Amino acid sequence: MAVRLAEACGYLQAHEAEAVFGRAEEVYARRVTVPNLFEVVVPDSIWVTERAVWFGGVRLRSRTTVVRLAGDALWVHSPGAPTDEVCAGLDALGEVRWIVVPNRFHHLGAPATAARYPKAVVVGRKSAEERNPHVSVSLQTDDAAYVEATPELASIDLKGVPFLDETMFFHAATGSLIAADLLISACARDHWTWRFAARIWGRYEKAGTPPDVRWSTRASAAAAESIARLRALPLQRILVAHTDPITEQPAQTLADAWDFAVPSGLAQSSAAI
Ligand SMILES: [Fe+2]
Repeated sequence: MAVRLAEACGYLQAHEAEAVFGRAEEVYARRVTVPNLFEVVVPDSIWVTERAVWFGGVRLRSRTTVVRLAGDALWVHSPGAPTDEVCAGLDALGEVRWIVVPNRFHHLGAPATAARYPKAVVVGRKSAEERNPHVSVSLQTDDAAYVEATPELASIDLKGVPFLDETMFFHAATGSLIAADLLISACARDHWTWRFAARIWGRYEKAGTPPDVRWSTRASAAAAESIARLRALPLQRILVAHTDPITEQPAQTLADAWDFAVPSGLAQSSAAI
């Protein structure tokens, strides 16, 4: 038991944990990835699909968000492996035009998805290329070709957090903020390793910043400005990569989670926005 507790706290690498947990985890992976492959978030507009991933010794759900834009163009945020099942689901929804690499970490499925959909454009953070030589980001989110082609989505950089180097996206028609690692929490649907770790870190059924983001981020005016801009949006929901949609008081949840990043001298002015 003590060994498993150590694994849950991240003391083993992912491949070691995979070897330890074995068949039971394969069964879990099938359970979370096969049924109900695409879940409707907003009818006719936004869907998510999720798969299981190991990260830091815990097993997370990692979610891909799909937005249908004008002309049945699909915008695919943080794709996983383009399995036949996933691609059949995507093809039923529209034509994959955009493959989004939102930060330094969410790039693993992008190269294979780009190979499967050669007409699609990979857009996002160039910093991902430094971590994955197979990733080729063709456009950044402020390039005119991208901005003009996707008026439904506004890009917002999370400044002051170089550990993530993340761009978020606001879909105004549905009030949806789409992000990867902006917030995280665990719930009963999650694997026991993440439920256990989340209870230790205060993230069980309570959204906060990912622990590694918290540890590597300092308060700054840049971060405060970004958070203030995000919380001022008419948010109906926040969609993140490892947690179910955040729909209850999303702006306040965001502000509370990122309060540590607001310098004390700016706290009062940020709260007034
Ligand atoms: Fe993540």
